[in-house]
Amino acid sequence: MGIQKVMVIGAGQMGSGIAQVCAQAGYDVLLNDIQQSFFERGLSVITKNLTRDVEKGRKTADEKMAILSRIQMSLDLKDASDVDIIIEAAVENMEVKQSIFKQLDTIAPAHAILATNTSSLPITEIAAVTNRPEQVIGMHFMNPVPVMKLVEIIRGLATADEVYKAVEEMTVKLAKTPVEVNDFPGFIANRILLPMINEAIYALYEGVASKEAIDDVMKLGMNHPMGPLTLADFIGLDTCLSIMEILHEGLGDSKYRPCPLLRKYVAAGWLGKKSGRGFYVYE
Ligand code: CAA
Ligand code: NAD
Repeated sequence: MGIQKVMVIGAGQMGSGIAQVCAQAGYDVLLNDIQQSFFERGLSVITKNLTRDVEKGRKTADEKMAILSRIQMSLDLKDASDVDIIIEAAVENMEVKQSIFKQLDTIAPAHAILATNTSSLPITEIAAVTNRPEQVIGMHFMNPVPVMKLVEIIRGLATADEVYKAVEEMTVKLAKTPVEVNDFPGFIANRILLPMINEAIYALYEGVASKEAIDDVMKLGMNHPMGPLTLADFIGLDTCLSIMEILHEGLGDSKYRPCPLLRKYVAAGWLGKKSGRGFYVYE
């Protein structure tokens, strides 16, 4: 059976973007969060993105309305009872994800694929709490989802080939490029990106240069679109810290130790752009 109806769990930065690209590709989408206001915040971001597309002549007003009409609110995981795939994009926390997957396993139809957008948590460990580990898979989108072309597709230990193929086909339908990766801490994207960001935070912590100077070096010297500290704020410092902890614990090498300054910022609630303050201050 093909994929027609999608449930996205978490209407934050990633979940709203995933819901948008799924609706753009013609899928019916249920966008789930724990509070109506969180759903509404996600929907307003999607509306803003689509309005910009209309203003720039990339979509018509009718297309914008048709895309929005394909996105429905969900505040209850029981709504997963008639979907073909669930893409989970709630917070980066193993207990939260395992609890969601345990519930989904009892609610979702037998054929449904359970995918997670986790940045770094082991797919195999999430799959293990379900009775369908062969139907659990990592579908790792990049931020901002409507712009970035890559989706890392991560096979858990038990993931079935036909499930991999179905997710690969869906990724192409979303106008993204799938890249196959095995289940090791941080997969590929974050195993390489996050140590670079963490090192930039160490450079700031040790007083090697100012935050602006560190970002300028990487932007102007390496042609990165954003400096590493701006990118950390953009990803979310809580998410960055979780990923470094997973790399440190999972690979056991001190080179992955999270910088104390990163821990301090997260403890202070300075989570980056989404909380209004991280390395930089946002209006
Ligand atoms: N949502 C939708 N579209 C967006 C957007 C957003 N949040 N932000 C920017 N865009 C679009 C803009 O509309 C614009 O498109 P048009 O010019 O066609 O209208 C285009 O992107 C470029 O935007 P801007 O001109 O405003 O700014 P920019 O040139 O600096 O590009 C950027 C913005 C694309 C975000 C760019 O800075 C960039 O590529 N940054 C790096 C992003 C990155 O590294 N992402 C990966 C993060 S790591 C990750 O996701 C994995 C993980 O698990 C943590
Ligand atoms: P976010 O904080 O912006 O959004 C998380 C959303 O999940 C919030 O709206 C929250 O209310 C909701 N949520 C929390 N618990 C929930 C539950 N039990 N049921 C339903 N909704 C719940 O976070 P984000 O940046 O969108 O990250 C989401 C996931 O995507 C994380 O696993 C993260 O590691 C991953 N990810 C993040 C990035 C990034 O750059 N931020 C990139 C790729 C992947």
